[in-house]
Amino acid sequence: MSLVSTSTVSPARRVRGRLRVPGDKSISHRYALLAALVEGRSRIANYAPGADCRSTLMCLRGVGLDVAEAAGVVTIEGRRLGQLMAPSGPLNAGNSGSTMRMIAGVLAAQPFVSEVVGDASLSRRPMRRVLVPLAQMGARVASTDGHAPLVFHGGPLRAISYAPEVPSAQVKSAVLLAGLHGEGLTRVTEPARTRDHTERALGIFGVSVQVDGLTVSIQGGQRGEPQSLVVPGDFSSAAFWLVAAAALPGSRIEVEDVGLNPTRTGLLEILRRFGARVEVRETETLAGEPRGTIVVEGERQGTVEVGPEEVPSIIDELPAVAALAAHGGTVRVRGAAELRVKESDRIAVLVAGFKALGITAVEHPDGFEVVGSGAPSGGVADACGDHRMAMAFAIAALAARAPSRIDGSDAVAISYPGFFDTLDRLVT
Ligand code: S3P
Repeated sequence: MSLVSTSTVSPARRVRGRLRVPGDKSISHRYALLAALVEGRSRIANYAPGADCRSTLMCLRGVGLDVAEAAGVVTIEGRRLGQLMAPSGPLNAGNSGSTMRMIAGVLAAQPFVSEVVGDASLSRRPMRRVLVPLAQMGARVASTDGHAPLVFHGGPLRAISYAPEVPSAQVKSAVLLAGLHGEGLTRVTEPARTRDHTERALGIFGVSVQVDGLTVSIQGGQRGEPQSLVVPGDFSSAAFWLVAAAALPGSRIEVEDVGLNPTRTGLLEILRRFGARVEVRETETLAGEPRGTIVVEGERQGTVEVGPEEVPSIIDELPAVAALAAHGGTVRVRGAAELRVKESDRIAVLVAGFKALGITAVEHPDGFEVVGSGAPSGGVADACGDHRMAMAFAIAALAARAPSRIDGSDAVAISYPGFFDTLDRLVT
């Protein structure tokens, strides 16, 4: 699919308002996958509306599950482990790395052949990171030199202890899901803590996992129970508004009912270091996930340095973080080479887009630097089919002297279909 529409973003002095953001993408994928693997009907409210989470539902339908959607509520009739059905054609993960990598852990264990394909971007992304541990578990998976399409000749799996080289919640989740189907105790020891939604969701579905420091273990063959769950607002979508508020002094943004899982909220500390006033009110923990309200007020622009130890907790927010310094201040990010294998090469695309908007940006092999000095000229930035780049360019363009054009802006439909309407409402 080529994404070809454009959006115009006008300069803004401030952003102000109170809002909710769509349901969390990472959590929605996991609730759907786990609902598929426990017998009975689960209900998932506030399911993420973007195309990525729809891809997960399409793949689940492809393996024979009844999946219904109405008014943001998804209903899934799950089956006992091992009871999925052979698909009649390729399962399409679209643009979604989470779908492809996590479902790999499920398909590797099924007693049938299945194929998962993706769009051009997903077909360029590295899959060896999940194929290596799955092969150690006894899985037979064919790929094209470590890339999609992936063809699974599923069968019984054995437990392993695995220590991935890159911190990746998707890899951890794929191995845990495979371990749930396997025999014995599977362990994953991460090089750094990544988002822990899978561990929390497994517990909520009645599947016990042990967490000991950076090691997570799961006993194979456990039977969970269906659930009725509500997904919190997506912190990664909220991030764009929080950054806009921090970047434009005099702004105030309040985001309600947003996920506050501490493995996701590293951005808040960065905004404080930049000079914003940040208030967090945690209201409740539902379905294992803390949630509440975040208020950000822009006060002054400073310098922030982000190093490798912080990267896993803000990996998806780094495009937004770059926009912090579009108008003034400095952002330096290192130790983030993973950005090069996201939906686009987010270091190259980001620096090219910022330069096109008249903002000083420098590319490093493992990061970037953005130095703001008053309102930039504005211009035309190409999102290169990447939802988070489109949104980061839109936020950066608010700081410009003249209207800017974002090419490929319809990529926002991957995670935040109403992004540009909300932008219109919040600018003053
Ligand atoms: C995700 C994990 C991260 C993140 C992605 C969503 C997840 O990817 O960048 O957008 O839901 O597990 P990696 O696991 O590749 O780091």
